[in-house]
Amino acid sequence: MELTEFVAKYAVERRHTSSVKWDGMQEKYGTNDLLPLWVADTEFKVPEAVTEALQNRIAHGAYGYSLTPESYYEAYFKWQQTRYGTELEHDWLRFGTGVVQSLSTLVTCLTEPGDAVMILQPVYAPFLSVITDNQRIPVISNLKRNGTHYEMDLADIQAKLQAKEVKLLLLCSPHNPVGRVWSSTELADLLEICRQEKVLLVSDEIHHDLIVGKRPFISALSIKEGYYRDNLVMLDSASKTFNLAALQNSHVVIPNPQLRERYDHCVARLHAPSGSLLGQVADEAAYRTGATWLAGMLAVVKHNYEYLKKTLTTAFPQLTVYELEGTYLAWVDLSQVVPVDKLEWVIKHQARLAVDFGEEFGPVGKGFIRINLATPPANIEKAVAALCAAIQA
Ligand SMILES: Cc1ncc(COP(=O)(O)O)c(C=O)c1O
Repeated sequence: MELTEFVAKYAVERRHTSSVKWDGMQEKYGTNDLLPLWVADTEFKVPEAVTEALQNRIAHGAYGYSLTPESYYEAYFKWQQTRYGTELEHDWLRFGTGVVQSLSTLVTCLTEPGDAVMILQPVYAPFLSVITDNQRIPVISNLKRNGTHYEMDLADIQAKLQAKEVKLLLLCSPHNPVGRVWSSTELADLLEICRQEKVLLVSDEIHHDLIVGKRPFISALSIKEGYYRDNLVMLDSASKTFNLAALQNSHVVIPNPQLRERYDHCVARLHAPSGSLLGQVADEAAYRTGATWLAGMLAVVKHNYEYLKKTLTTAFPQLTVYELEGTYLAWVDLSQVVPVDKLEWVIKHQARLAVDFGEEFGPVGKGFIRINLATPPANIEKAVAALCAAIQA
């Protein structure tokens, strides 16, 4: 689908709809009167078939305790298999009400208080809080900057896994906020290190449908034809892809039977939530019918990214817009054009934008901002113009 057709058909006003991004700015930024490019959801309506499926289910009128129908598994597995070659089995799949909920549950169920858990910063903030909030010890390996992209520091990772006796590593793949789609070689190297050091890996693949660069996505489950899959748990959901976060349905994929048993016992003890009826109705319809819609949305993201990168780096060659291989989140280093201690003020009061500030993703993010590109191009044009004027001033 063409970009303009997609925007005309699906862009929707979200102000005054109890949207965190539009109506919840006050709490974080002190005003609701900014252009919001923060929370990672989109300004687009879901595919028509998703709304229809929800309407049909709603029309039934009874919403008691529900099972997941076989048709759901078929739709999800087909999506994974045909788009990414990821082979999944029925027994491996468990449900959550969100990927962060599952990250926290996995930290609780697969480690003990006081155990060390590794993350690669800068990374989505809850990766750190699910560790510290559960009284585990975070071990940080910083990603390495190389020109306009980031890489894993494998030597640092291995040294710290050994020295700190790490039990679990939480990987973001594709990586929010740096926009990397990890290559099969990088994933294989990381998984091999984890195997050698007896560290379990949790791969958060929630952004896996949002591929906008040349590098194809590969799931950790598929590396070396599944050689490492007994040592990992994969998490994903349709919520980022199709703007369904509030319907609260997500996947926990555990191929290893012993690990699954441990997880199941623990989840039973916690009475942790498991999926949601309407989330599953919506997700199934999205997996069945959403490919064309998704192509349209990715065209918008690519266009917005190219525009942002070209305009900002032409105006300010010292500023860095990192390569965007995956996610709809641009990672921009403003440290060479705005004094780091003035950045928040300049963005909020001069540019009047609500973006995520880099330090939310770890201390190495100071001086950076993260910009959500899943919005009509007019918003990105407005934001870039405001940003340029603010930097100039
Ligand atoms: C890497 C990553 N994981 C998880 C989430 C949130 O997922 P959920 O709403 O399913 O908890 C986000 C949202 O931005 C994310 O970027």
